[in-house]
Amino acid sequence: MRLVPWQPDDLLRRLDDVVSVYGAAMGYRSELLQARRGYIAAHVRRPGFRAVATLTTEGQLAGFGYGYTSGPGQWWHDQVRAALDEPDRRPWLGDCFEVVELHVRPTAQGHGVGARQLRALLSMADGKTVLLSTPEADEETSRAWRLYRRFGFVDVLRGFLFPGDEREFAILGRELPLAERTADAPGIVGM
Ligand SMILES: CC(C)(COP(=O)(O)OP(=O)(O)OC[C@H]1O[C@@H](n2cnc3c(N)ncnc32)[C@H](O)[C@@H]1OP(=O)(O)O)[C@@H](O)C(=O)NCCC(=O)NCCS
Repeated sequence: MRLVPWQPDDLLRRLDDVVSVYGAAMGYRSELLQARRGYIAAHVRRPGFRAVATLTTEGQLAGFGYGYTSGPGQWWHDQVRAALDEPDRRPWLGDCFEVVELHVRPTAQGHGVGARQLRALLSMADGKTVLLSTPEADEETSRAWRLYRRFGFVDVLRGFLFPGDEREFAILGRELPLAERTADAPGIVGM
C-alpha cells in the first residue's frame, strides 16, 4: 500500500474509483452515488482543498480522504454555523478545515489505512481547527468513531439533523495542528 497526496486533477482522473470506494464504504445506493459524484467533482475547486489516496501495489484505489477550508456560502458550513451557539461559531468555524470525506474500501479496512490517511490529510490542512460530520453510532463498535476519538476529536454538536437526511449526525472537532506522530496515529511514513 502506498499513501499519496492528490492534486485536484488526480482526484478527477480517478473519480469513478473514488465513487466506487465511497459507495462500498458507506453502503450507498447507486442513485445517491450519482448525485454525490457531482458534488465531489465540484469540491476539488474549493479553497484549501487537500486530498490523499491509498493505492495498492497494482495501483488500485484502496481509500481516499479530502477536505477544504470551511467558509460561508458552503451548505455544510452554513448548517453547522446556524446550529452552533453564537460564542462557539468563531472559535470553531473562523479558520476551519472540514474533513469532507474519508473512506477505505471494506476489504482494506482494519489495517491502519484510515488512520494514515487522516493523519496525512490533517498534516497538510490549513486552519486552526478541523471539523467533520459522522453518522451517530456506537462509539465502542464503530471504526470511524474509534478513529476520530483516537485522534482527539471532541463533540461539537450531537444528534444533528441535516435537512433532507433523516439520520442523526455528530459534528466532531479538534484544534490544529496535530501533535507529532504517536503510536496511535501513525504518520505518512512507514506504510
Ligand atoms: C472509518 C474508516 C475510514 C477507518 O479506516 P480503517 O482503515 O478501516 O481504520 P483504521 O486505520 O483505524 O484501522 C482500524 C483498526 O486497525 C488498527 N490498526 C491501526 N494500525 C494498524 C496496523 N498497522 N496494522 C494493523 N492494525 C492496525 C487500529 O487500531 C484500528 O483498530 P480499531 O478500529 O479496531 O480500534 C473506514 O473504516 C471506513 O471507510 N469506514 C466506512 C465509511 C466511514 O464510516 N467513513 C467515515 C464516515 S465520516
